[in-house]
Amino acid sequence: MDDLSPLRQQWLDRIKDAADPAAIEDVRLSALGKKGEISLKMRELGKMTPEERQTTGKALNALRDELDSALRARKASLEDAALEARLAEEWLDVTLPGRPRRQGTIHPISQVSDEVTAIFADMGFAVAEGPQIETDWYNFDALNIAPEHPARQEHDTFFMHRAPGDDRPPHVLRTHTSPVQIRAMQDHGAPIRVIAPGRVYRMDMDQTHAPMFHQIEGLAIGRDISMAQLKWTVEEFFSAYFGTRVKTRFRASHFPFTEPSAEVDIQCSWVDGKLIVGEGDDWLEVLGSGMVHPHVLRSGGVDPNEWQGFAFGMGIDRMAMLKYGIPDLRAFFESDLRWLRHYGFVPGDVPSVAGGLSR
Ligand code: PHE
Repeated sequence: MDDLSPLRQQWLDRIKDAADPAAIEDVRLSALGKKGEISLKMRELGKMTPEERQTTGKALNALRDELDSALRARKASLEDAALEARLAEEWLDVTLPGRPRRQGTIHPISQVSDEVTAIFADMGFAVAEGPQIETDWYNFDALNIAPEHPARQEHDTFFMHRAPGDDRPPHVLRTHTSPVQIRAMQDHGAPIRVIAPGRVYRMDMDQTHAPMFHQIEGLAIGRDISMAQLKWTVEEFFSAYFGTRVKTRFRASHFPFTEPSAEVDIQCSWVDGKLIVGEGDDWLEVLGSGMVHPHVLRSGGVDPNEWQGFAFGMGIDRMAMLKYGIPDLRAFFESDLRWLRHYGFVPGDVPSVAGGLSR
C-alpha cells in the first residue's frame, strides 16, 4: 500500500494555509467531500485484498478523522480571530466624558418662571393653573369686570369664533392670569396661598408688547391677611429675585378685582443707558396688586365676611428683561438660535433658593 504521509502532510498544509471560513470549506470538500481525494481513496478499498483492505482502511479512517478535526480546529480559530478583530474595531471607551458643546438651552422665560416659582414656593405658595382659553365669566365677570366696564375694552381681548346662530358669549384667550384666582378658590377654598404662572394674550405689538406674553399671579387668602403682608411679600420676592435689597413704592391705583389697589414700583437707576435695580432715585413699575375685592371672593365661593387677602400680578417677560439685560421683548418669541444660545440657560441648572437662582 502507498505511504499516506505525503498525502497527510499536503492536506494539513492546505488546512493551515486556508485564510477564511470559505477557504476552509473548499479544502474540506476537496479532501473529504463525496468526490474528495480521501473519499475516492476509500472507495478503492473494495478492489483490495482483505489484508490490504484492513491496513489501508484503518490508515485512511485515521487520516480522515485527523483531517476532519484539523479542519474544525482551523475553522474555530479563524472565527475567534474574526471576533477579536471586530471587537477591536468596535471598541468604545464609555468612560470618556461627554462633549461639552451645549445642544439646547433653557429659554429665559422658562428660567425666570422657575426662579420666581422657587422663591414663592420657599414662602409657602403652591402653584395653580388654569386654561389659556377661558370663558368670559372667569376672565371678566367673576373678577368684577361687568360687560359694560371699560376694562373690557382696555384688555384688547382676542375672542374665539362662535358658529353662526350660537349666541352664547364667546370664549376668550385669557387676557391675564387673574382668572386662576377664581379657579384656585373654587378648587381649594380658603385659606389658600398660590401663584399661577402662565401665558396671556392681548392684541398689542411693539418693542415692549407682544400679543402673547407671560404673567404670574399671586393670591393669599386668610382670616387676617393685610396690605402690610402684601408689601412684605413682594419686597421679599424682589430682593431674592434680584439678589440685592430692593425698595418698593406702592402707588394708589385701580383694578376692578382689588380694593384698595396699588401699583408697585421698584427702586432703580439708569447708568450709561443701563438699568440697575435696587439703587438710585428712579422707579420702575412692575406689578399690579391689592386686597381681593369681596365680589371676587364670592365668585370663588369664599365668604368675604370670614376671609380676606391680597392678590398681585406681574409680567414674567418684563422680569426676565430686567434681570438679564434683554432689550427687545419680541426676540423672546422669534426662536432665533443665536439669540437662544446667547440668552439661554444651561439645562439641568435648576434654580432653587438654596442652590442659587441663576448662573
Ligand atoms: N390682572 C392685572 C393685570 O393684568 C394685574 C393684577 C393682578 C392686579 C392681581 C391686581 C391684582 O394688569
